[in-house]
Amino acid sequence: MSIRVSEDGRQFFLETKTSSYRMKADELGTLRHLYYGEKSGGDDLPALFHAVPRGHDANPHETGMKDRDYGLESIPQEYSGFGGADYRTTALRARFEDGTRTVRLRFESYRIEAGKYAIPGLPAAYDDRGDAETLVITLRDAETGLKAELYYAVFEEADVITRAVKVTNETAGTVTLEKCASLALDFPARDYDLMTFFGRWAKERTPERVKLAHGIRAVQSLRGASSLQYNPSALLLAPETTETSGEGYGIAFVYSGSFLLEAEKDPAGDVRLQLGIHPDLFSWKLAPGECFYAPEALLTWSNAGVSGISHHFHDFINRSIVRGKWRDAERPVLLNNWEGTYFHFDGEKLVAMAKAAAEIGVNLFVLDDGWFGKRDDDRSGLGDWQPNEAKIGCSIRELGEKVRAAGTAFGIWFEPEAVSEDSDLFRAHPDWAIAVPGREPSLARYELLLDLGRKDVQDRLIEDISSVIRASGAVYLKWDFNRSISDRYSAALPADRQGEFDHRYMLGVYRVLETLREAFPELLIEGCSSGGGRFDAGMLYYTPQIWTSDDTDPIERLMIQYGTSMIYPVRTMGAHVSASPNHQTGRKTPLHTRAVVAMSGTFGFELDVTKAPEEEKAEMREELETFRALYGLLQFGDLYRLLPPTDENCTVWEQAAKDGSRALLSTVRHTAHAARVLSGFQVQGLKDEAMYRVRMVREKDVEKLDDTSKTLFDGRTVSGRALRTAGLYVPVTCFPEEYEAFQILIEEA
Ligand code: GLA
Repeated sequence: MSIRVSEDGRQFFLETKTSSYRMKADELGTLRHLYYGEKSGGDDLPALFHAVPRGHDANPHETGMKDRDYGLESIPQEYSGFGGADYRTTALRARFEDGTRTVRLRFESYRIEAGKYAIPGLPAAYDDRGDAETLVITLRDAETGLKAELYYAVFEEADVITRAVKVTNETAGTVTLEKCASLALDFPARDYDLMTFFGRWAKERTPERVKLAHGIRAVQSLRGASSLQYNPSALLLAPETTETSGEGYGIAFVYSGSFLLEAEKDPAGDVRLQLGIHPDLFSWKLAPGECFYAPEALLTWSNAGVSGISHHFHDFINRSIVRGKWRDAERPVLLNNWEGTYFHFDGEKLVAMAKAAAEIGVNLFVLDDGWFGKRDDDRSGLGDWQPNEAKIGCSIRELGEKVRAAGTAFGIWFEPEAVSEDSDLFRAHPDWAIAVPGREPSLARYELLLDLGRKDVQDRLIEDISSVIRASGAVYLKWDFNRSISDRYSAALPADRQGEFDHRYMLGVYRVLETLREAFPELLIEGCSSGGGRFDAGMLYYTPQIWTSDDTDPIERLMIQYGTSMIYPVRTMGAHVSASPNHQTGRKTPLHTRAVVAMSGTFGFELDVTKAPEEEKAEMREELETFRALYGLLQFGDLYRLLPPTDENCTVWEQAAKDGSRALLSTVRHTAHAARVLSGFQVQGLKDEAMYRVRMVREKDVEKLDDTSKTLFDGRTVSGRALRTAGLYVPVTCFPEEYEAFQILIEEA
């Protein structure tokens, strides 16, 4: 049983494999947060926790004359309302019909439900192996009747707790929600570091770890998407926590729209973490009886360092967020024509690329932007999803057939949410594009967005996309989204509901994706947003993989994939081998380096393979064979980041089989230095007592090594204990080369 309740029905014990979560409703009905952390057996734990008054606290009236120490601003709480006497950032803010905004939530009841709850219209983790149980705690603002149900699903084996909130208007009048966080979590006064992720185009999810100072540190998106700039996820770490040791918490939003993630350290040192829809772009009108669902957030704890948190999230996302056939099945290795041709192709070129791709072992050819409407550059055509038969020289059905005859499956790109002003769709439905009446909307990449909150827009997209998939026989869809929302207004909403725009937009995107998933259950959808601008657990519920970044330079990718991997699994990260010199940076790198980096993602190609000389094609084939041979380890192994991309010499990471029987090390040198040093690291995830053979994956790499490295990396047997304690070093070559990469396989002897 992962959920227990005390006999009086007011104390709640949530247990995962390694963690405990405790809360209790006190005598005034405040739902107090007591503890979240290492598994703690005793039911007496609540006795150990104590809220210390801040001094001159505001006391609820019922205690005021008896207990001047009871203050809502000092009590750790599960979900706190705005407008009362909790002066920290609060989770729920509502405006009542009489204009008042005070909400004081008190415990009313609880219920336990078997399995995992679902949320209508929204992505949410699921349980298909009997791991989850759900606790629902009902809180109510007694004076108005507003009801908040807090959902906690405990995934015991996975070590993850999910949270979501349902607010129901049981008042006599209309209520407007102004903030409704999905997750609120209070921590006792201790020092914490917060790791968040910042970025921009071609530089997504750089991790930034700071010591939490007094005040509020927040990251957010006001862009209508989770964004390139900040990710809706964070790690709260003890200051001494490293990659492989120490404790910490991870949170991740199962939502893809505007968000606010706040960490408030109050003047007494307590920390409150909150994550939810961004209140600046949110208000939601509820008539009596109506309810609102706040999206889900994931929560985990580990004392195995940052990698422990990552492993929990990786396994959970792979297992309980990603759905359908492509959750477990081996995914196709694709070649995408974008960097190979950009907009400049014809049907013959495409088929030639598919044929050359098939020759190197690729099994899916993806036709990117430019196949539809009038679209030879990015100034026109979006919204006109009718294939440009003059350009491709045949119908889309025939093109699909030709590509299959060339030896690969067929996949296709869409940017469904966007519309060009120069398009038939815009000319026919100018009101479908997002713009404020009387104002010229801003363009981004020359485009506007469609009002996805409208059902007629959603239905049109479902119809347009479905007909292309059916006609072409596409097995893969790249769903792109290349600008942020601005100039918000929906002709379909009354004035007092315009604040619902962003969330209704997201619900619309999810509805279109879900409808397509149901209609085409075998279709593999890859998310994309100017690279990785909408990389979140919400999208992963519909799109098992997401293009990580438009930056395909393997050296720049080291940091992008490193940061992304803090929360998201290797298996979700779109990664391709592209041309050298790289189109974004001009950097020249060996093919092997590009392949090693792309293998710690979905692995694919994005270059004009028809132009590659035979020996290069042979090398590509070889890399692809290596990827397939190591597929299980690369895609499902436990990832350890052994040397970070900020290291002076090398980035090193490891994927270890869960049973400790083997591991793959990948090393990439940043620059060549004349003054050489050993880049050492300790190998993780092996069995101390077992003996392992250490060898280079490519035999020919042994030739490059100096004599000492040769004796080690050419099949030497070493104990798991020695690999963990003394460790290994990046193989030393006779002539250090810039950007050289190695893969080292460690297998139980
Ligand atoms: C975005 C995507 C790219 C590519 C182009 C096409 O930039 O991130 O991968 O699909 O659009 O226009």
